[in-house]
Amino acid sequence: MAFTLTPGAAKATFRSMSTVVWQRRVTCPAKLNLGLWVLGKRADGFHALESLVVQTEWGDELELCLHDEPGDDSLTCDVSELPTDSSNLVMKAVRLFRERHGIKGRAAFSLTKRIPWGGGLGGGSADGAWALRLLNEAHGHPLSPDQLLELAAQLGSDVPLFLHDEPVWMRGRGEVIETVSPELVARLSGLYVTVAHPGFPVETPWAYKHLAAQRAYSPVELAQAGREAWAQPGLPPHSALHNDFRAVVDAKYPTVPLVLAQLNAVDGVRAQMSGSGSACVALYEAVEAQDAVANVLREAWGEQACVVQTRLR
Ligand code: C5P
Repeated sequence: MAFTLTPGAAKATFRSMSTVVWQRRVTCPAKLNLGLWVLGKRADGFHALESLVVQTEWGDELELCLHDEPGDDSLTCDVSELPTDSSNLVMKAVRLFRERHGIKGRAAFSLTKRIPWGGGLGGGSADGAWALRLLNEAHGHPLSPDQLLELAAQLGSDVPLFLHDEPVWMRGRGEVIETVSPELVARLSGLYVTVAHPGFPVETPWAYKHLAAQRAYSPVELAQAGREAWAQPGLPPHSALHNDFRAVVDAKYPTVPLVLAQLNAVDGVRAQMSGSGSACVALYEAVEAQDAVANVLREAWGEQACVVQTRLR
């Protein structure tokens, strides 16, 4: 423990200082479901799904400072409304890592939040996954990929995919991750994308509940046909950007199908909703489509929307 004398103080005061022994700042990307088929309810209450998931260059910023002296782990965030207590996935990740491996000293996380909540963009999940990744790196990678996956799956269904940096097929309830072909990685990587959160959230449990009530599930064959469409070279047909949650979200939020139809009418654009919504995603190869996409979104959702122009990782 180090002590410093505060210069110029009327009375000599001593302050306890801990040393930062490891520090790193990373981007926790948003995820976009380009294809999402919900196959049915499992015995454990979760739904079996099949989804092609990509990540964006844009995301939250998360920094870990590992201090050498023991103390309470902490999380600070630039958005005051975001809970930073034990309910936050970053703090849950710290607890799981501490239980499994232990932490040298104390972990202090600082989060700059950019990904809006309730958009189906996996913001909280990305933060949780990266908290695990950072802690594992800071301690010299004591946990194997399988052990990290086990902890990630405990955090949530969308967390395991963020242990990978490339597009993946997500299966099971989200805990089964399959890498995609190098050809598909090359085809998707660097594509332009506009991500638009309309300003109203959709809560995932609500969306699953209503999907279950309507039994609006896809047959396995449809998901398989989707996988085959994505395996073909070139940008896939509009139909390959599939999302079963549209069955429930479109009915409650009619601007979602309206905006998606307008985006899909723009030359060279493929648009779909991500996850359980409400965020919509427009993909395009030519940057010239950017303005037309932005105009559609501005006219439909105006100032309340969060619109981000980025690229796929
Ligand atoms: O795993 P996570 O905590 O993100 O899930 C939130 C809720 O979404 C679950 O409680 C469940 O209602 C629903 N869910 C589901 N099937 C999945 C993923 C999530 O039913 N594969």
